[in-house]
Amino acid sequence: MNIIEIKNISKIYKMGKVDIDALKNVSLQIKMGEFITIMGHSGSGKSTLLNIIGLLDRPTSGTYYFEDARIDNLNEDELATIRNKKIGFIFQTFNLLPQYSALFNVELPLVYSGCSPKRCREIALSLLKEVGLSGRERHKPNELSGGEQQRVAIARALVNDPMIILADEPTGNLDTKCGNEIMEIFALLHQEGKTILLVTHNEHITSFSQRIIYLQDGKIIEGKNL
Ligand SMILES: Nc1ncnc2c1ncn2[C@@H]1O[C@H](COP(=O)(O)OP(=O)(O)O)[C@@H](O)[C@H]1O
Ligand SMILES: [Mg+2]
Repeated sequence: MNIIEIKNISKIYKMGKVDIDALKNVSLQIKMGEFITIMGHSGSGKSTLLNIIGLLDRPTSGTYYFEDARIDNLNEDELATIRNKKIGFIFQTFNLLPQYSALFNVELPLVYSGCSPKRCREIALSLLKEVGLSGRERHKPNELSGGEQQRVAIARALVNDPMIILADEPTGNLDTKCGNEIMEIFALLHQEGKTILLVTHNEHITSFSQRIIYLQDGKIIEGKNL
């Protein structure tokens, strides 16, 4: 079954009088349980594609099906509901809230899901344990290493038990060793049945995935099954 299917997605950014064609008629099917990596030069449209698939941004044209239901015509609230329940996002720069502890950063998205404070805490603590951060729960982001901050971000992305995890260069700010440790976590999540779509510049990282998609100038130029 396809968890996501996009057809002929285009994205045009208007910069004053200039149009930037960030995506040009991109079509893609993502099957439940797949692990796909996306590669391409800087500016090729990788983040734009991930943001559209992650419902953080809308395409200029094209159709989007999530679990076989068409969703590109839904309103912002309806899209936000799908995003919060079904999609987990991980960024290169972690995007944690600097004033809060690791624990609260993970708990925060749960607050909106309506679980009791006690239950929220249990879930956050168990996810921080799962990503190897027991004992670091009270640390703020600046009291954690880059690798540890990315673990917090992964735990945060998992709180609502999403079907698909989208990661935009999640190891881009980490050294090789930390990056590999983070990739081990993605490999584990994939084994547990999560669907993963991950952008990377690193050829080595593609070995964790089953399929590589290459983007160039806003188009998919090649797909490769591993
Ligand atoms: N918010 C934006 N406004 C205008 N242009 C943008 C915006 N985001 C991205 N772009 C442009 O769209 C193209 C694709 O960008 P992006 O998706 O970030 O590429 P990548 O992630 O592969 O580096 C680039 O030319 C970039 O400059
Ligand atoms: Mg990018």
